[in-house]
Amino acid sequence: MQVIVTKDFAETASVVAEMILALVKEKPDCRLGLATGSTAEAVYPHIVDACKAGKADFSKTRSVNLDEYVGLSPEHPQSYRASMNRWLFDHINIDKKNTVVASGLGDPDEAVKAFNKAIDEGGRIDLQLLGVGIDGHVGFNEPGKCLYAAAHREKLTESTIEANKRFFESREEVPTEAITMGLGAIMKARKVVLAATGKNKADAMRQLLMTDEITPEMPCSMLKMHPNAVIVIDRALADEIGYKA
Ligand code: GLP
Repeated sequence: MQVIVTKDFAETASVVAEMILALVKEKPDCRLGLATGSTAEAVYPHIVDACKAGKADFSKTRSVNLDEYVGLSPEHPQSYRASMNRWLFDHINIDKKNTVVASGLGDPDEAVKAFNKAIDEGGRIDLQLLGVGIDGHVGFNEPGKCLYAAAHREKLTESTIEANKRFFESREEVPTEAITMGLGAIMKARKVVLAATGKNKADAMRQLLMTDEITPEMPCSMLKMHPNAVIVIDRALADEIGYKA
């Protein structure tokens, strides 16, 4: 794993955006694996700005998102489809037909089937952007006895529901289930870029960067097996976990 320690989160967001922009420039028809959450959200304005300034062209680019909440329609403002449209797709010249987000509506098992088909048919992801949950989840692959290779339904942990309630009016409104890309497609991506910030990510980052363990109890630890993983953290988080560059 390559570890980049930035001076602050603002720099993390721009460093990660630059990696995505460099890839799109070099390989305009690349397939991006995109993520939601406030960490990923901070990356997208840089991409929008570059596109608006005519410095990036997404007309041939394809994307697939990691996950979606079960039960939220694509129009629900907190659905990941609506979030991606609002943050990125509505502002860049990507063809929305080339953007895959799992469906949160209808029979979840059918949605999982369709999502797996779309993941497989689109071919290997060139760059997968990842945030990380407080409990170490990537996508919505939650900790447990077992992780899954293919996309699947996942019951969200209490810690995830608690963390995500800030986006909803009440805790009761937070979906308790999601559809997520599995670790298989994530690990097959040519490059994965995980960004993290904040004290509440210290346990996950300590496990990832300060121990040699790989465990389903901490899904992000799987990245230790990835041949081209880049972890981007800021100085404050590096100091918190005692990471020395
Ligand atoms: C959600 C997403 C994850 C993301 C996580 C981190 O749970 N499903 O893919 O990594 O949020 O969110 P944040 O960046 O807001 O801490």
